[in-house]
Amino acid sequence: MEKLHIQGGIPLRGEVHISGAKNAALPILTASLLAYEPVKIKNLPHLQDVTTIIELLGLMGVDVTLDESCEVEIDTRNISSFIAPYELVKTMRASILVLGPLLTRYGSADVSLPGGCAIGTRPVDLHINGLQAMGADIMLKEGYIRARAPEGLKGASFTFNLVTVTGTENLMMAAVLAKGQTVLHNAAREPEVIDLANFLLMLGADIQGAGTDTIVINGVDRLSGGSYSILPDRIEAGTYLVAAAITGGKIKLTHVRPDTLTVVIEKLRLGGADIEVGDDWISLDMTNKRPKAVDIMTAPYPGFATDMQAQFLALNSIADGESRIVENIFENRFMHIQELHRMGAKIQLQGNTAICQGIPKLTGAPLMATDLRASASLVLAGLAAEGKTIIDRIYHIDRGYERIEEKLAQLGAKIKRVS
Ligand code: UD1
Repeated sequence: MEKLHIQGGIPLRGEVHISGAKNAALPILTASLLAYEPVKIKNLPHLQDVTTIIELLGLMGVDVTLDESCEVEIDTRNISSFIAPYELVKTMRASILVLGPLLTRYGSADVSLPGGCAIGTRPVDLHINGLQAMGADIMLKEGYIRARAPEGLKGASFTFNLVTVTGTENLMMAAVLAKGQTVLHNAAREPEVIDLANFLLMLGADIQGAGTDTIVINGVDRLSGGSYSILPDRIEAGTYLVAAAITGGKIKLTHVRPDTLTVVIEKLRLGGADIEVGDDWISLDMTNKRPKAVDIMTAPYPGFATDMQAQFLALNSIADGESRIVENIFENRFMHIQELHRMGAKIQLQGNTAICQGIPKLTGAPLMATDLRASASLVLAGLAAEGKTIIDRIYHIDRGYERIEEKLAQLGAKIKRVS
């Protein structure tokens, strides 16, 4: 199994190009199922999750062509199956995003239930309730969601009782080809939801209010094709900013959308970083400084992203002072704590709050990656630590970070992948 070897203690310096957003790429790829003509998708990140969703589309008979510049062309005209099998869904929960598009366009979808995952139970009840409100006939059978709507879906008014990102995306995709108007209340406001809406608008959908908590969708008869470039990844960007901050470095991110990183930038400034922002770049300077501890509470966008929580806990573990990080989105998203303990971090977990007493230096250790963002926090800790860190099970990292060791090495880190 592949591992990352990191020799820590080197301040990162230089420029890094931010890739397309995983969490926008996945729904946009599944939304291509709604297009009646070919679509071209650009700025796709090279990630395992993206490969998995492309594989899933391929299994359905969708023609997917990758050109030399890694743009993908998707043509649904030969689709022959409406099934998302367990073997793929179990490796990536976001496969649930095919449910809305398949059902609204083809009247049939059999999608394996994703089940639990490392960071919590993560049910999909709201996806199902919303589609039922739109007239779908849904049964849970042999581990599969069997959804049928032979006459198509009907617009409905639906209120999410908690904010769900992929739930909002699934219902928005279902609504674009439903008959009549759908109003989604308490919708997710994440930039990736807006990116998906912009893609659907480009195909000819009628959507208003994406980016607010009320999205109004008027169903249309068909969507066309077109070409679309994916939003830059704010979580990858945030992770590199923390990488520079934790190592006392100085870096510049390019191809980034600073407006999607407002809270992260604010917290890093509170932590002592000098940050400058341009239209599509962000620079951070932390030369010769020890970070100051910052408190964090995760919340749906525009709040602090749960996907950045682990990275900030790594930062706090070497910061000056005590901090509290409260995780409000997932019930079991602190698996990095026990690994950070192995590096000497002083963190206590009380319910959903991590109380961290910053220490001047972590020490390198052998570690185990447990989930995507937890793994990123271990890489950051390893970059800052004294001595050598070896991280096992790095397939988790490859799900969400494109060529992480190459990008970090470009910034001067001593990091290599060893099989
Ligand atoms: C998405 C992101 C993930 C991020 C998360 C929260 C993608 C592909 N993934 O995941 O990176 O960490 O948002 O920002 O975009 N819930 C229910 N019932 C449902 C749906 C969700 O109870 O039907 C709960 C979940 O268990 C969780 C909370 O709602 O506690 C938020 O989850 P949700 O926003 O749905 O996360 P994902 O869309 O799976």
